[in-house]
Parts: sequence; structure tokens; C-alpha cells
Amino acid sequence: AQTLTILGLESSCDDTAAAVVRQTEGEPAQVLSSIVHGQTELHSAYGGVVPEIAARAHAEKLDICVRQALEEAGLELADLDAIAVTAGPGLIGGVMSGVMCAKGLSAATGLPLIGVNHLAGHALTPRLTDAIAYPYLMLLVSGGHCQYLIVHGPEQFTRLGGTIDDAPGEAFDKTARLLGLPQPGGPSVEAEAREGDPDRFRFPRPLLDRPDCNLSFSGLKTALMRMRDQIVAEKGGLTRQDRADLCAGFQQAIVETLAEKTRRALSRYMEENPPEPVVAVAGGVAANTAIRSALESVCAEQGAKFTAPPHSLCTDNAAMIAYAGLERFRTGARDGLDLTARPRWPL
Ligand code: KG4
Ligand code: ZN
Repeated sequence: AQTLTILGLESSCDDTAAAVVRQTEGEPAQVLSSIVHGQTELHSAYGGVVPEIAARAHAEKLDICVRQALEEAGLELADLDAIAVTAGPGLIGGVMSGVMCAKGLSAATGLPLIGVNHLAGHALTPRLTDAIAYPYLMLLVSGGHCQYLIVHGPEQFTRLGGTIDDAPGEAFDKTARLLGLPQPGGPSVEAEAREGDPDRFRFPRPLLDRPDCNLSFSGLKTALMRMRDQIVAEKGGLTRQDRADLCAGFQQAIVETLAEKTRRALSRYMEENPPEPVVAVAGGVAANTAIRSALESVCAEQGAKFTAPPHSLCTDNAAMIAYAGLERFRTGARDGLDLTARPRWPL
């Protein structure tokens, strides 16, 4: 059985990351190291990720990440079989930094280079963490992505639908901003929602009237703004309870929308008669307890197993890139020094 050891690099958004993953054919993969340098503080004053600042920070931190990832794994470049790097989609300056760094390492060592689609990295994570067999249904929900995929192989995806505007994490972040809660918005809105009444404010459930698997979340922000402004006009400001009730109503709308669309995606997937039906979720929003338990119930209803990778591998990281690269490498895929960074790259 062939053992492969792959270094992965990730720099497509606001995390600079490097990781080493090893797998012996037919055995579970091992994450030998996974280093992530976040940039939250750098962008916090701007209310969002600033591409130019992100690119500069990636260029500065990539080689440090690589050194730390190798050190933690107890390996040297010469022990590796290939270098995998996120080649898109993402903020182009960051993606270019990662691709250039990987090309430099490849040119200096002669190691093969493998370009990885960031979304494929997220989508293959359940195979890295739980050795899930193809095909499985994947719901990818983060600050930047929201889509349903049937994953058939390392490069075979059927996209069932996704958001037509904002991603749910983005909606959580905007809600937090509108209510003066700290960023990232997901955890703070979830904490507020726990104290609130989800039935006091009725938020829209966009696109639920359509039979497809598409989603829309931008209307929630508009609804929230209207409700907030009305309370302020009536009472001069928001009480602690108003804020909690708004968060609870907002979160409830997302929970119910995701649950119903997952039900539909699951029916489509079940038509393929998978031998062991599995629904996997990945992305930062998968950390939300209310969303997770709603998805768990939908899976239980239809007899599918539910799985979610640990939080550190759900959010942006390089272990998923190394692993996706490893799977591509096994299929014989190789990229040359002409590998290009792609801002857009649908699966
Ligand atoms: O996957 P991720 O770390 O980065 C990308 O977007 O690629 O996801 C971050 C997003 C943020 O929008 C954050 O607010 C959201 O995930 N998030 C949550 C929770 N924890 C993080 N959303 C809802 N509930 C949470 N508990
Ligand atoms: Zn991501």
C-alpha cells in the first residue's frame, strides 16, 4: 500500500494556513499538523475582510506557516510527496500569494504541485475526519459559501442548489452589526437567541415556496432593519430583551429554511439509492447548535446518518487542502508551474 505525505497551503480568505496530511492507501488519513494564522484583528476596524490587507498578511505569514507545519509534523520538505495549494476560488491577492509560495517550494525541491479547489477541500473533509464513502450529501455553510452538493468523487460533484445572494454566516455577521453585537456575528447572535422568544418577530422564509434547493438570506437583513427601526421609533431604543427576541426570530428563520431545503436535497440524493446515506455539513455556520440539531432531525426522519467534522476542520484550514490534494494525487493529477490562481472556480 502506498503511503503519501502532502503539504497543503490555504490563503483564499482571511486565514493563512499550512498543514501536513499523511495517508496509507486503505487506511484513515492522519493530520500530522495544521497551522492556522487568522487575520480577524487586522480587519476588525473595517467591518469586513479588506482584500489588500489580507494579501499582504498572507505573503508575510505563508512561509512561517509552512515552517511551523513541517516542524510540528517532525518532517522536512524532502519527506513530502507533493505540495497542494488552494488555487481558487477566493480573494485573488491571497490565492496568488499561496500559489506563488507553492510554486517556489515546488521549483526548489522538484516536488509535484497540485492545485486544489477550496470548495472541494471543504467538501472532502468528512472523508479526512470520518472516512465517509462516496457518494454523500454535503451542505457547505460558511461566511462565504452556501451550497448543497452530492459528492461522488474527488472531482465529481453534483450541485443541487445554493444561495442566490448572501451566505448564512454573512447574514449572522450583518445581524450582529445591526444590533451592535461583537464579530464574528454567528456565536454572539446564537448566544442572544438563547435568551429570546423566536415567535415575537416573524422573519421571512425566502424561497420556501419554490421546490428547488436554492436559498436566499439577504432579505433577512432588510426585515431586521425594519423591525429594529420600528422599535427605536416607538420606544427610543432597544432593550436587552428586544435584541434577544430579534436574534431568536432571525435564527429561527435560518434554521427552518435550512431544515426544509436539506429535506429536499436529501430526497434528491436518496433517489440515487446510496448504500449508506450520509449527510455531512461543513463551514463555520455548522458550529451553530440550533442549526445542527435541526439538520440531525431531518436526517433521522429520512434514515440518513449525520456527520460534522470537528470545528477546527469545518472552518478554513490547510489540512482539508492537503487531503483534497492527496486524493487528486492518487488519481494521477499533477499541475505544473503554469498553475493559475482563479478568483472564481465553480465546482
Ligand atoms: O468557515 P468560516 O470560518 O469562514 C468562511 O466563511 O470561509 O465561517 C465563518 C462564518 C462567520 O460568518 C461566522 O459568523 C459563522 O461562520 N459562524 C456561525 C457560528 N460560528 C461561526 N454562524 C452561526 N452560528 C455560530 N455558532
Ligand atoms: Zn472556506
